[in-house]
Order: sequence, then C-alpha cells, then structure tokens
Amino acid sequence: MDAKKISLKEKEVKPVVDHLNDLLANYHIHYQKLRGCHWNVKGKSFFTLHIKFEELYTAALVTIDELAERILTLGKSPCSTFNDYIKTSTLKEIDTIGLKETAMVKALIDDMAVLIAMERELLDITAEAGDDGTNDMVNRFMQFKEKNTWMLRSFAGKK
Ligand SMILES: [Fe+2]
Repeated sequence: MDAKKISLKEKEVKPVVDHLNDLLANYHIHYQKLRGCHWNVKGKSFFTLHIKFEELYTAALVTIDELAERILTLGKSPCSTFNDYIKTSTLKEIDTIGLKETAMVKALIDDMAVLIAMERELLDITAEAGDDGTNDMVNRFMQFKEKNTWMLRSFAGKK
C-alpha cells in the first residue's frame, strides 16, 4: 500500500506520517498514565475518578488503534515498541503510586495540553498535504480532549 492508491502524494504524506507516529508514541505514555491513575487513585473522590479515568483510558485505547491504522492506511508502519515510544515521546512517564488526586488531575490536564498542541500542528500539516481523512480524524481526537480539559479543570476548581 502506498499513498498514491488513495490519491495522495507520497512526498506530502511523509510529514503527516512522521507526526502521526510522534502522536502515537505520546499517546502510549498518556494511556499508561491514565491506567496508573485509575489503579492508584485514593480518597473521597475514588468512585468518581476511578470511573472517569477508565473512560479516558478506554478512549485513548481506541485513539491509539485509529492512529496506528491511519499510518498503515497511508502506506507506512506505525512504531510499535515501548522502547521507541519512550525515546520519541515528549510526554514523560510518572509514578502514580501515592500520588494525590489533585496531582493526578493536573498531570492529565498537562498531558492533554501537549497532545492538543501536537494535534493542532497535525491539522496544519494534513491541510497542506490535502489529507482530509487524517485531518478529520485528528480533529475528533482534539475535540474530545478539549472538552475533557474543561471537565478536569472544573473538577480541580480551576477557571
Ligand atoms: Fe479497572
């Protein structure tokens, strides 16, 4: 499979694929952070946050698969080792054991800000490449995190 099969130009798709692989790496770090928060949250908000974190990691899992399969659709291979993800990712792992719920929520808001910024860049790059399919997909991912940024900030009592 190559990009020409879906009427895209190889040269123009290359930066799209590189950025999708970057986003994929960052998403794996974010995903595992969400799982850690889901497992290790303690205190009065346990039932609320335990469920919210599960909703977020379930969405992240679907996003990860869509990202990887879009890269394949564009005729390239998605990175698939944790070694690569850790090396490539801007987001860093954190230890969630003993982490306060407010620190967990803040860590997730910070992750989402980085992911949203990466996605905005991808929207420009995909527009330039005429890759409306990737543009539409990434836009959906971004809108989900925009809304959840509002929710997490509201939970944390932030404006
Ligand atoms: Fe669970």
